[in-house]
Amino acid sequence: MAHVTETGLDASRRLRRAIESVLAGRSAASLLPSVARMTEEYRSGGVPSAPVLAGRNDVAAYAACRMPATFAATWSALRQVRLSLASPGPSSVVDLGAGTGAASWAAVDVFGSRVVTLLEQQEVAIDLGRSLAAESGSDALASATWRTWRLASSGAAIPAAGMAVASYLLGELDPHGRADLVACAARAAPLVVLVDAGTPAGFSRILAARALLVELGMAVVAPCPHDAPCPLDGAGDWCHFSTRLERSSLHRRLKGAELAYEDEKFSFVAAARGLDLDRPAARVVRHPWIRKGMVTLSLCAAGGDVRDEVVSKRQGAQYRGARDVSWGASWPEQRAADGDRATTA
Ligand SMILES: C[S@@+](CC[C@H](N)C(=O)[O-])C[C@H]1O[C@@H](n2cnc3c(N)ncnc32)[C@H](O)[C@@H]1O
Repeated sequence: MAHVTETGLDASRRLRRAIESVLAGRSAASLLPSVARMTEEYRSGGVPSAPVLAGRNDVAAYAACRMPATFAATWSALRQVRLSLASPGPSSVVDLGAGTGAASWAAVDVFGSRVVTLLEQQEVAIDLGRSLAAESGSDALASATWRTWRLASSGAAIPAAGMAVASYLLGELDPHGRADLVACAARAAPLVVLVDAGTPAGFSRILAARALLVELGMAVVAPCPHDAPCPLDGAGDWCHFSTRLERSSLHRRLKGAELAYEDEKFSFVAAARGLDLDRPAARVVRHPWIRKGMVTLSLCAAGGDVRDEVVSKRQGAQYRGARDVSWGASWPEQRAADGDRATTA
């Protein structure tokens, strides 16, 4: 999958600057207990019994440590969604379990969405998300509507939009909550995008959500180039992608990390109703294996199967394309006709 540091650079740097500005004056030491608690909670793999983003320090720690990564993952997923849509991208978005707004930042950058509604259960997250949006330099984010919302008690009360997105929310819900989320999102929008951790557990949640979306009559937009059962299900493997993002110095200090970047692994599914699709022939589902004069691509193909394709130097342009294509891209690689940014309805 394309690195955000290569293609969504402006937005990821604007987000980083906004986080630095809003968190200015907060020491790493004051945030470390929240980082430790959050890390333990997310690593436990269980459904949290109480909100993880409970107080102001938790939300600040989340913005410094996790939001750049959830933004990068959602940005990368939405970019592939955009390439697989023949219809114009959504001009409005509803962001479910929005936290501090990462998915909306990605939607505005990838699709140029102008009307943004963010639904989140924790007011402390909304407060910080609003402050970040005010620093975004984006009218759509600065004028976005934020609402306190809790899935369990909200019934169908989700405003209609061109796209419903939920990033890293499925893992905080029990199986009933996940099914409710999918149903609510599918009622609210003709395009639903769900992003989760790129772990076997995250993938299994995405797989279950994908099955529900197909049952509801939606067509898979990405990453699968087909609506058939996932060929990786039960194969001891999981479909996930990776995106590289820069770490700020606060981010490095909070993680006790030396590297100036990290790789975020994620799984996702996008499904649509009544939209024209331009699904690729196949998607690259692993790092291409490059040897002298030969590239092996592991592909999930439109026929619903996963297979290896060997492209040799004798194949000229196809070989050059295979050398350049990255994990997560379509194959043959699709490019946006309008450059790297999407146009909207
Ligand atoms: C891991 S955070 C993800 C935040 C944001 N979407 C992102 O990608 O950075 C999960 C968010 O979902 C919210 N959440 C969890 N359960 C929820 C529920 N039942 N209803 C509404 N929001 C919920 C949490 O408060 C938290 O902000």
